[in-house]
Amino acid sequence: MAQLALEGGQPVRPHAFPARAHIGAEEKAAVAALFDEAIAAGAGPGYNGPEEQAYCDEFSAYLGGGYTDAVSSGTAGIYVALRALDPEPFGEVIVGAVTDPGGMMPIPLLNQIPVVADTLPGSYNTGPEQVSSLLTPLTRAIVVAHIAGEPADIPGIMALAGPRGIPVIEDCSQSHGASLHGRPVGSFGDIAVFSTMFGKHHSSGGQGGLVFTRDVNLYNRIRRASDRGKPFALPEGSTNALASLNLNLSDLAAAIGRIQLRKLPTIVGRRCEIVAELEAGLQGLHCISLPPLLDGAQSSSWFLRLRYHPEASRVDKDTFCRALSAEGLPIMADYSAALPHLMDWFVNRRVFGSSGYPWTSPEYVRASVHDPNRDFPCPNARAAVAAHFNVMFHEAWTSADIADTLTIFHKVAAAYETTHNT
Ligand SMILES: Cc1ncc(COP(=O)(O)O)c(C=O)c1O
Repeated sequence: MAQLALEGGQPVRPHAFPARAHIGAEEKAAVAALFDEAIAAGAGPGYNGPEEQAYCDEFSAYLGGGYTDAVSSGTAGIYVALRALDPEPFGEVIVGAVTDPGGMMPIPLLNQIPVVADTLPGSYNTGPEQVSSLLTPLTRAIVVAHIAGEPADIPGIMALAGPRGIPVIEDCSQSHGASLHGRPVGSFGDIAVFSTMFGKHHSSGGQGGLVFTRDVNLYNRIRRASDRGKPFALPEGSTNALASLNLNLSDLAAAIGRIQLRKLPTIVGRRCEIVAELEAGLQGLHCISLPPLLDGAQSSSWFLRLRYHPEASRVDKDTFCRALSAEGLPIMADYSAALPHLMDWFVNRRVFGSSGYPWTSPEYVRASVHDPNRDFPCPNARAAVAAHFNVMFHEAWTSADIADTLTIFHKVAAAYETTHNT
C-alpha cells in the first residue's frame, strides 16, 4: 500500500489544481468598450445605466421572467430585500442556521430579530418542519439559503409561508443555476438574492449581487431600497421615499456580469459532469458518500459536500481530511465559518453599540412569545457540519484532475477504511 503523504510518502498531486480562469479577454473587452464610450462622451462610466439594465433584463430572462436589480454584494442584496419589505421594527425574521454572515447580519441591522432555524437532518439547508416550529405572530419574513448549490425544500417553505402572508427571500448566493423539478431556484420565493462576488458561479468582478422578483411592485420597492429611497415609479414630484443606503452596482461591473452570465450554463453543466464522474469513481468506498439531494433537485455544486462515515474508518474526519490535504486535494474540512449564530457578533449581540438591541428592546421583550434572549442550539446543523467536508472543485478541472482526485480518495481510504458503512 502506498505510504500516505501525511506520513512522509509522496503526494498524489504535488502540483496545484488549476485556477478557475473564468475571467478572460471577453470580460476585459466589455469593460474596455465601456471605458472607450465614457472617454468619447467625456462622462461616466456610471451606474443605473444601459449596461446594468441589460444585465438585469438578461438575468431575469435566465430565471424565466421577472425583474432584477443589480447591487453591490450578496450581503447588500439581503439588506435590500428586507428593506424593500419594510417590516415594522422588532419583528422576527427566520433564517437557516448554515449561511454566510452576510446572509444573516442585515436582519438585526434592520431592527429585526434573527430567529435561527435548524437544518434538515444530514443537510446544510433548513426545511419546512424546522421553519414551522419557529413561526410566531411576530414573524415578518423567512430567509432560505440553498447552500453549496443544493436546492432547499423551497416549495415546502412557500406552502407554509404563502397562506400566512409571510414573504420568503431565497438566498441563492451559492446556487446559481440549481433547480428543483426543472424550475430554477430563485423563482420560487417572493424575492431572490444572488451574490456575484468573484468566487461565485458567475460574477460581476470583485463584488456584486442581484435581487430578483416576479412582482413589479416589489421590484420598484427593491430599486428604492438599493438607492437611498429614490422615488422610482412614484408619481411625478415625489421625493426620496424611505431612508436606505446606496448599494448600486456600477455599469462597469454589470458589463462583466453580462459576459459571465452567458458562460453560466456551461459553468454549471461542467460542474454537474465533474460531480457525476466523482460520484461514479467513489462508489466502492465505504467511509465517504455523496449525501442525497431532495427529490427532483439538481445541484449546481458551488462545492461538493461529502459525508464522512467514521464507523467505516480507523480515524476521525479531521485526520482523514488532513490526509486528503497532504495528498494535494483542495478541501474545507470544517464549515463552521457558515454558522454565523455561533460567532461573537451574534453571541455578544454586537449590533448597536453595547445596547443588545434589537434583542433587548422593550418592544421586543414585551411582544416576544419566547425568551427574547434565547439561544438556537440547531443540533442538526452542528451535526451536519461535523459529519461532512467540502471538496473545493470547479468547472476548470480536467479529466486528469478528476482522476487524481479519485486516486487520492482511494489511497487515503485504503489506508484507513475498516468496514462497510451503514
Ligand atoms: C449563502 C450566502 N449568503 C450571502 C452571502 C454574502 O454575499 P457577498 O459575499 O457577496 O456579500 C454569501 C457569500 O458567500 C453566501 O454564501
